[in-house]
Amino acid sequence: AVNLRHRNFLKELDFTGEELRYLVDLGAALKAAKAGGYERRTLTGRNIALIFEKTSTRTRSAFEVAAHDQGAHVTYLGPDESQIGAKESVRDTARVLGRMFDGIEYRGAKQDDIEVLGRDAGVPVWNGLTDEWHPTQMLADILTMQEHSTERLADVAYCYLGDARNNTARSLLVTGALLGMDVRVAAPRELWPDEDLRVTADRLAKESEARILVTTDVEQAVSGAGFVYTDVWLSMGEPPEEWSRRIDLLRPYQVNRAVLAATGNRHVRFMHCLPALHNRETRTGERLYRQTGLDALEVTEDVFESPASIVFDQAENRLHTIKAVMVATLGS
Ligand code: CP
Ligand code: NVA
Repeated sequence: AVNLRHRNFLKELDFTGEELRYLVDLGAALKAAKAGGYERRTLTGRNIALIFEKTSTRTRSAFEVAAHDQGAHVTYLGPDESQIGAKESVRDTARVLGRMFDGIEYRGAKQDDIEVLGRDAGVPVWNGLTDEWHPTQMLADILTMQEHSTERLADVAYCYLGDARNNTARSLLVTGALLGMDVRVAAPRELWPDEDLRVTADRLAKESEARILVTTDVEQAVSGAGFVYTDVWLSMGEPPEEWSRRIDLLRPYQVNRAVLAATGNRHVRFMHCLPALHNRETRTGERLYRQTGLDALEVTEDVFESPASIVFDQAENRLHTIKAVMVATLGS
């Protein structure tokens, strides 16, 4: 039986496929319990710190609502709102917060920082996104694929298009490799995941019977896929001057109707971790669409708003699966 009590959740690679499946299934059970009105509180009186060195809508809200549903209290430490990193080292912060809190969520740039927190806090630490990984996103995404699929998880094929060096892409690659799934990544060579990560994914795939494909060829990558996934072309913390280069590199990897059609799958679903720049209704979107004259970036508006789009199911499932992480590692 899987037991994750007192474990950190810093990256997918620290877990077995079985442990990740356990967290996804626990998320599904907690979702059903909440909907059915029979959720049992296992975090009553616990105190949870939420450190955000980058901004967030979904991840912060999911941790807060999940904690409240389970009877815990949260303290939010936003960007520039604490001494962390500026006046106090991560190591000292870890030892301070570990004396006060029962669990710590961290979102920031460096994976090394969360590894230090996880080593020195003495309480479970959960990764709410770093430059390298976005593990809580993966639990929500796998649950969402499971809900929209009739196949066994191992038979599910998904394809990521876009910046394949970012956190979401790297996490999708190793998660599917751990779970024995059919994972495709299409990106310009310059934006492929690092060689060592591709080697790791291939090694995991040998054990799990996952199928892994990293290619520049969109048609080949999406053929037969059940899910087409993309993310923003420039991530938090990357310099805005990079936008024009990214747009040049990534235009051929935009998710549009032709790409969904090229899957050959009538039931194909579109996924995005969000936030998305699918129209002008944001300050960044407005500026980019005006400057470039383009009518779409990583995804076209018609695909984003189509019945194939399950992006808000993903967003909701952040709540249930983040709750699963806290309950599994900290619950009574
Ligand atoms: N998908 C995701 O992590 O969203 P936020 O940045 O809003 O938390
Ligand atoms: N790759 C994106 C994901 C946001 C949830 C970023 O890091 O900005």
